[in-house]
Amino acid sequence: MNCLSPSILAADISRLGEEIKLVDKAGAQYLHIDIMDGHFVPTISFGAPLMKSIRGLTERIFDVHLMVEEPARLVEEMVECGANIITVHAESCVHLDRTIDKIREHGALASVALNPATDLRCLKYILPKLDMVLLMTVNPGYGGQKYIPYATQKIRDLRQMIEECGLKIDIEVDGGINLYNVREVLNAGANIIVAGSAVFQGDIVANVEEFLKVMK
Ligand code: DX5
Ligand code: ZN
Repeated sequence: MNCLSPSILAADISRLGEEIKLVDKAGAQYLHIDIMDGHFVPTISFGAPLMKSIRGLTERIFDVHLMVEEPARLVEEMVECGANIITVHAESCVHLDRTIDKIREHGALASVALNPATDLRCLKYILPKLDMVLLMTVNPGYGGQKYIPYATQKIRDLRQMIEECGLKIDIEVDGGINLYNVREVLNAGANIIVAGSAVFQGDIVANVEEFLKVMK
């Protein structure tokens, strides 16, 4: 199934509650929450207190993207704050396998993110343990960047790898996705679409509805 995961990094934080309710009402299935620590990526975004305060506003899936060094230390707290899917970067984990086990033990779905230039081969052995793979289609750290064109081939290659292993794993794409290129990433094999600026800039409800129409 194709799902839309609006990234609240692009929301107007002074109106965050209202904007979350809008994307929920318009039918977005997930809510993408970018946690940044100022080390793994240069920027700092939000953390547990914000997650706790918005958890009561929507029953949608909390899709938490940890852009932090050694994310294993945050897993328990993220689950307590209502995370349903936890994504960690392969580049940030010395013990990726153990981190994935920890996510599962705490009852969340487990996902690995790869930066644009990271080779898919690092997933070879861990793939069967994953519910989702997040492919970064921009360099992580900021919203509003341009989609990196070579990511389309990477999505195709990952979908093929998953099929050859006989697995059922979601592919999420994150960064620079808009109404004009969403079809391209879906055709390549992605099925979970993160969109920040393309959802929260302008008419939020109309943007979500347009995305859902194109994603059918
Ligand atoms: C970037 C974040 C993204 C970001 C996407 O590091 O992981 O989730 O919010 O924003 P857009 O869709 O504007 O590129
Ligand atoms: Zn993200």
